[in-house]
Amino acid sequence: MRVHVADHPLIAHKLTYLRDKRTDSPTFRRLAEELMTLLAYEATREVRVEPFEIETPVSPTTGIKLSNPKPLIVPILRAGLGMLEGMVRLLPSAEVGFLGMQRNEETLEAITYANRLPDDLSGRQVYVLDPMLATGGSMIDAIKFLLERGADDITAVTLLAAPEGIAAMESALADAGVPVSLVTGSIDEKLNEHGYIVPGLGDAGDRLYGVV
Ligand code: URA
Repeated sequence: MRVHVADHPLIAHKLTYLRDKRTDSPTFRRLAEELMTLLAYEATREVRVEPFEIETPVSPTTGIKLSNPKPLIVPILRAGLGMLEGMVRLLPSAEVGFLGMQRNEETLEAITYANRLPDDLSGRQVYVLDPMLATGGSMIDAIKFLLERGADDITAVTLLAAPEGIAAMESALADAGVPVSLVTGSIDEKLNEHGYIVPGLGDAGDRLYGVV
């Protein structure tokens, strides 16, 4: 699995304010979107494109456009929704599917409670969004789900990642048979005994949308 840490100073700067517990929800939401747009730039380096002819006011030339089928963006509900707008801003012609995953706070295992995706993902590049790669449970389940439907190139995008989550992804997806990448804003120190990333930023879903 290719792991790319987008260690740009603007990303580190915005992450610092996201981590700060004094940052309120509206600011947190805005920063998560802005960060996603910066990460999207890194995550789409290998997006599939094809040439097409245009004319400038001066001469004909060859440009590029996104290939068909268009990439699919899949935010994992609910925290991944906080990253969707930032990604769509950069890839407005992409399609969007949804996967609802929730972790059991005791076992830390992920369950799928909703899905709204095309049945056939053959030939699709898919970008899976979830702010926190902690144990890796939800991300691994989401990616396996997408692989079963035929996705042939998957990039997970997270704001933060724990080394434990990366190791879990690497071992669970070693035989994926298609390219799987992770693009993240930072690899933090570790997970604590409650499955939170340290130093992390707390519960991303609660900080985006409040405790419900
Ligand atoms: N999910 C979160 O929202 N935060 C963590 O630190 C770990 C998982």
